[in-house]
Amino acid sequence: MMDLTVDLGFIKLKNPVIAASGTFGYGIEFSPFIDLNKLGGIVVKGLYFSPREGNPPPRLVETKSGLINSIGLQGIGVRRFAEEILPQLRRYDTAIIVNVCGQREEEYASVVDFLDKGEGISAYELNISCPNVEKDGQCPALNPKATHSLVSLVKKTCSRPIITKLSPNVTDIVEIALSAQEAGSDALSLVNTFLAMAIDPETRTPRLANIFGGLSGPAIKPIALRMVYQVAQSTSIPVIGIGGILSGHDALEFLIAGAKAIEVGTANFVDPEATVKIIDELRVYCQNHNIERIEELIGTLKVNL
Ligand SMILES: Cc1cc2nc3c(=O)[nH]c(=O)nc-3n(C[C@H](O)[C@H](O)[C@H](O)COP(=O)(O)O)c2cc1C
Repeated sequence: MMDLTVDLGFIKLKNPVIAASGTFGYGIEFSPFIDLNKLGGIVVKGLYFSPREGNPPPRLVETKSGLINSIGLQGIGVRRFAEEILPQLRRYDTAIIVNVCGQREEEYASVVDFLDKGEGISAYELNISCPNVEKDGQCPALNPKATHSLVSLVKKTCSRPIITKLSPNVTDIVEIALSAQEAGSDALSLVNTFLAMAIDPETRTPRLANIFGGLSGPAIKPIALRMVYQVAQSTSIPVIGIGGILSGHDALEFLIAGAKAIEVGTANFVDPEATVKIIDELRVYCQNHNIERIEELIGTLKVNL
């Protein structure tokens, strides 16, 4: 019997495939298309304490091998999430992870403090890439001190495990990863989107109302993979790999690089069944290679230096 479970220490997932934040709604939107019980986990879209409108349109641009978005973290806020969404999600046998956002450190703490009172959440994923957290408009993920301060505060406030989600828009992602680990993060997920832009030469205007957006999809996979490998080599907490994963083959690259689990984002827009297809492809690979437990594969990159 094939064993696809992966143990993150604080939570055991039935398989390593998790739906990524912002690309899978609040999870239940995908229930007409796939059996959510099949997933290792679901990260719901980013939640601020209060409801938010997000940025003005246009907010999405397709590129040759990816997507640039400037949705601006539109969301329903914690109260509606706890009252309307969470009771529906609890019916499914999959790990529910809440992606937490904030304009200031205190807002992240308020979100986890509020949600901690209810049942049905396995962990929080801290989206430390939210802009405007610092007075200078920078997000904490760009700075090791700000990352440390935010993660420590949230860790003190909540009783559940914390996964810190790192931004790739830095010179040295390992430095930020080590800061989050030192501040008590239980795991790391990476990467969020790459800062990008697109221009319409006819009008000479930006294609996004916000000028800049975040690039995701297949275009970013090789860079994300490199970062996951570097972070997995340098830290001792579980790493969750994200970035351009479209197939079981892509997911395998991240597992072999050292990720204990992976998140699937943009692929959900191309094919709402992407997550379950990736799980099936992982199972077939394990069968074909006589791998009884998928965990045997994690971090097994062979390097001849
Ligand atoms: C439309 C859209 C919305 C997103 N919203 C969030 C979000 O709310 N919180 C977050 O941490 N990441 C968010 N992300 C980033 C994804 O979770 C993921 O980290 C990124 O897209 C890279 O993975 P991918 O190439 O598989 O899409 C969003 C991405 C997209 C495309």
